[in-house]
Amino acid sequence: MGRKVYVTRALPRAVMEELGKVCEVTVNDAPRPATKEELLEGVKGRDAIVTMLNDPVTAEVIAAAGPQLRLIANYAVGYNNIDLAEAARRGVWVTNTPDVLTNATADMAWALLFAAARHIPAGDRLVRTGTFAWAPEFMLGADITGRTLGVVGAGRIGRNFARKARHGFDMKVLYAGRHPVPEFEAETEGRFVPLEELLRASDFVSLHVPLTPETRHMIGAKELAMMKPTAILINSSRGPVVEEKALAAALKSRTIWAAGLDVYENEPDVEPELKALDNVALAPHLGTATTGTRYEMGLMVVRNVAAALEGQEPPNVVK
Ligand code: GLV
Ligand code: GLV
Repeated sequence: MGRKVYVTRALPRAVMEELGKVCEVTVNDAPRPATKEELLEGVKGRDAIVTMLNDPVTAEVIAAAGPQLRLIANYAVGYNNIDLAEAARRGVWVTNTPDVLTNATADMAWALLFAAARHIPAGDRLVRTGTFAWAPEFMLGADITGRTLGVVGAGRIGRNFARKARHGFDMKVLYAGRHPVPEFEAETEGRFVPLEELLRASDFVSLHVPLTPETRHMIGAKELAMMKPTAILINSSRGPVVEEKALAAALKSRTIWAAGLDVYENEPDVEPELKALDNVALAPHLGTATTGTRYEMGLMVVRNVAAALEGQEPPNVVK
């Protein structure tokens, strides 16, 4: 087994140093994602490739690597950017970076919830560019503590987010997903309900599902219309889970009250209608973006690469 690895985007320096100890590394050092051509060229003859969530790892890319390819190590928990079926067909392992990013991502969803509920971005713009004075009904926001939270997707991140809601903010938790999750209920006192009931009853709806054919456009005009006119939608999962144009229309017409978004349907592009609205807090896909979390994700990638290069099944294979 060889030890040649291509990294599609430079990871934190300390991570690159650790990776350098287990293999011969080639890296795209440009301050932007690898282009399709660079990807097709870079993967050639490699035993493993380390990919980012914005690299489309298509059948063409996997074929370009060659038959010696053992591992695609994604530097993310989500892996909707990878053609899993093609990887499996060629006997290539795919790994992700779960767990180490759960707190950071749930924290970011909280930051968005607060930002949207309490007008932080609009308030910041006002302080910088205008004048303000305290007044009884100036920039009134939404109550958070004690309200009802609907969590869509009861995986690790949704559960962590809901636990913080229950124990930090005394919220009542509803959740929807493919099936009830006993650990989720034990930690959050959450009640499993159909999505429609969750949408109708929640003051806040937060999305924590992976992007799959089933979850693509799971929230569109019909679902937004079911939500309370006072409701706030938070999306820190994947952009295409929400129909962005329908969301912009719902925010504009106040079908729902506000939204907080960390992800977009066509990243890095953002629907212009959304950018024009004041009742949406927009963040640039920062869910896992803390120094500590990105380092831990990197070490996880290194462990997966090291195992695969030894011919052993890596610890974080997705199936
Ligand atoms: C971030 O979006 C991730 O999937 O890790
Ligand atoms: C994945 O399902 C996660 O929530 O970490």
